Amino acid sequence: MKNLDWANLSFGYRPTDYNVRCYYRDGKWGEIEVSSEEYINMHMAATCLHYGQEAFEGLKAFRCPDGKVRVFRMDENAARLQSTCRGILMPEVPTDLFCDMVKKVVRLNQEYIPTYESGATLYIRPLLIGMSPQVGVHPATEYLFIIFVTPVGPYFKGGFSTNPYVIIRDYDRSAPLGTGMYKVGGNYAASLKANALAHEKGYACEFYLDAKEKRYMDECGAANFFGIKDNTYVTPKSTSILPSITNKSLMQLAEDLGMKVERRPIPEDELDTFEEAGACGTAAVISPISYIDDLDTGRRFTFSEDGKPGPVSTRLYNLLRAIQYGTAEDKHGWTTVV
Ligand code: PLP
Ligand code: COI
Repeated sequence: MKNLDWANLSFGYRPTDYNVRCYYRDGKWGEIEVSSEEYINMHMAATCLHYGQEAFEGLKAFRCPDGKVRVFRMDENAARLQSTCRGILMPEVPTDLFCDMVKKVVRLNQEYIPTYESGATLYIRPLLIGMSPQVGVHPATEYLFIIFVTPVGPYFKGGFSTNPYVIIRDYDRSAPLGTGMYKVGGNYAASLKANALAHEKGYACEFYLDAKEKRYMDECGAANFFGIKDNTYVTPKSTSILPSITNKSLMQLAEDLGMKVERRPIPEDELDTFEEAGACGTAAVISPISYIDDLDTGRRFTFSEDGKPGPVSTRLYNLLRAIQYGTAEDKHGWTTVV
């Protein structure tokens, strides 16, 4: 084990020893290469630089109390990347190649997987980029799929504690028929200003309404939204949000706990009726929301009177964590021991 201050890691980039790479050339994927190089050598007219032919994924590896290392639902990340590839005309990374590379890069960097007690994890970042030159707007013919890892602490300060969010109307991160359901860099570029604005005003994160009607809850900067009421887990159905694997897992766990699950458009007005609300994602895990402000209307929707996470969010969080760390039964076969 490396000698890092595991318990005080931020969510940021720290170098590790290895990354893994695979090139797509002449219509096929090559061999997996191991690299210690942090830089990529590429053509200045590469399509990833000019035309946004870039997709990424995010998943985590956990050092568990039984001494094993587990990765959470990597087949789902592979499937989502394939969907993104179809969306922006990149060659699909086969699931086997994706999973072999994830396992390899985690094993190679096992000394960087944070201790169980620290609550930190190893974040795994797969990245697919168009490498060959184009000046006309066309897809590349050559691609690089690369995976690096980095040990991370909590995405939001304080880990599992409530944070305030703000609805931003002046910016959209994606359009109803745009690329919101794909994990492409352009969506995040579109979110930078709104995110900075939210931070400037003292909020943890910006919240997007649907771009067309500005009536329905879409998602937060880098996480899906859910609300809890009447023993029901409610989460938005929208074409402009990323299909979160954490959210999909929480829907299943809510059902396992005997709750109802509803995936449907959520009008902003309905926020008033939720007993609890949270943001969820690989980085965020569950980040309970204290309140959401709508500065344009002056409304504040409060989900936690005492500033503490609610009982249902807490239960879901503990269950998800326990499965990820191998301390609860993995009934759905979500984890892979690496
Ligand atoms: N929504 C956005 C925009 C994200 O960037 C992420 C992070 O990946 C999520 C939602 C959560 O998705 P997941 O749970 O698969 O990490
Ligand atoms: C993740 O949860 O994996 C994300 O993608 C968040 C991120 C953009 C930092």
